[in-house]
Amino acid sequence: MKVLSVASEVAPLIKTGGLADVAGALPAALKPAGVDMRTLVPGYPAVLSALGPTRQILTDGDLFGGPVQILYGEAAGLELYVLDAAHLFYRDGGPYAAPDGYDWWDNTERFAALCWMAARLCNEGHLHGWKPDVLQAHDWQGGFAPVYLQRMGAAHSVGSVMTIHNIAFTGSAGADMIPRLRLPAEGYNAGGYEFYGRISALKAGIAYADKVNTVSPTYAEELKTPHFGMGFDGALQFKGKDFSGILNGIDLDVWNPATDPNIVRYKNVAGKAKARAALVEEMELDQGAGPLCVIVSRLTEQKGLDLLLDALPRLLERGGQLALLGSGDPWLQERFIAAAEANPGRVAVRLGYNEPLSHRLIAGGDAILVPSRFEPCGLTQLYGLRYGTVPVVALTGGLADTVIPATVATRAAGVATGIQFASGDAGALLAAIDRLCDLYQTREAFQQVQRNGMKFPVGWDTSAAAYAALFAEAAKHP
Ligand code: ADP
Ligand code: GLC
Repeated sequence: MKVLSVASEVAPLIKTGGLADVAGALPAALKPAGVDMRTLVPGYPAVLSALGPTRQILTDGDLFGGPVQILYGEAAGLELYVLDAAHLFYRDGGPYAAPDGYDWWDNTERFAALCWMAARLCNEGHLHGWKPDVLQAHDWQGGFAPVYLQRMGAAHSVGSVMTIHNIAFTGSAGADMIPRLRLPAEGYNAGGYEFYGRISALKAGIAYADKVNTVSPTYAEELKTPHFGMGFDGALQFKGKDFSGILNGIDLDVWNPATDPNIVRYKNVAGKAKARAALVEEMELDQGAGPLCVIVSRLTEQKGLDLLLDALPRLLERGGQLALLGSGDPWLQERFIAAAEANPGRVAVRLGYNEPLSHRLIAGGDAILVPSRFEPCGLTQLYGLRYGTVPVVALTGGLADTVIPATVATRAAGVATGIQFASGDAGALLAAIDRLCDLYQTREAFQQVQRNGMKFPVGWDTSAAAYAALFAEAAKHP
């Protein structure tokens, strides 16, 4: 089974969030399940410079304003098709935004180009010795690919799967773009790529892909409701059994406290104390009588960190501390910086993106906080489990599917791995912080929850098998 994964970011080459981790992990995770996956990514400077020797596969003299080519090569152990299109992707800044933080003006064309060339790879792959059976499109940036597959007449031989990591990004544009984007005019309707009077690349993917999935079973259920579905709930309900949830895993080699080169390594809960001490020193925190809580996150509305700021005084009253690494919305950054300045030794904040520090925070913390308003899957609570750092999470999406809340029953059964509270509810978050602090005071009980977490399976095994089965269903075998 050959699968072309179409992604706008892929770890470790280019990453803004969990999508990159998942797109980067799937090829290796799926190999034992018999899936030969290659990944098509844009030729950002960071991707092109990491590529080894390349081979030219396809060219186009003028795709949205300039010449493009697809190069095949390897980087970081990944087999890549890279869309080399200088006029679209060879720019300073992030994958979606300019250095000033504003989205690129031409994002619709940039990722439409990626999708167009993805469809061509599927359509013409036999000419180059690798023809995908299935195309997997990640998020709106891959959403037009199933439409183009159909337009090129390849949809009868190549299956398609639309994977939704985050419904909040719709990839929308004005309907006047239809001809320019090479979209079939007849698809502009409620059952096609139309979305509230505009075009949506995500809607296109949902409507045209053979199968649609998201990254946890609970989020799949939530997406069928108006509150979480953000306008796509009807389209997803309409997919019926062709819409499902498959939980993300994490890379157990990269995230292994016994071998992690970024941290003071440890094998068990007792050994974790050294990683904690190192973090306290690095972040210039006091010793503290309560739990050291850590956060590694994009700072956006989704993540519910404003609720946490409101609950922070309670954590500090109870002797707890907070260490945060994140970047994102300026108003949230400012509030966290202000909290750190007002509470030296108790609250430490580092802005920016820092992979090694993210490992040290997760290793050194007693608890990791993920108070999201919605969370398709979430990866940092999984890292927390693996590192014996107790997740305190909102009861939503993948957070609900990965953390077993400490209750009388789960503790008696010896299976509790964390603490959960009603998502978006400031009072419930306060109560959760109290529960964490209470649990932390009973050393043996807290350590039992840490140990349970460290044993909990967070790898790809089960989900890789589920993806392999989904791809098999999507494939159009004669
Ligand atoms: P999302 O994809 O919504 O941002 P996830 O929890 O799925 O949320 O994935 C976030 C990923 O990005 C994790 O691997 C996390 O460790 C990483 N991450 C987020 N912010 C930072 C940061 N400031 N520095 C380093 N890693 C970060
Ligand atoms: C998204 C979601 C996150 C998920 C990640 C990878 O960015 O916000 O919950 O873990 O994609 O699927």
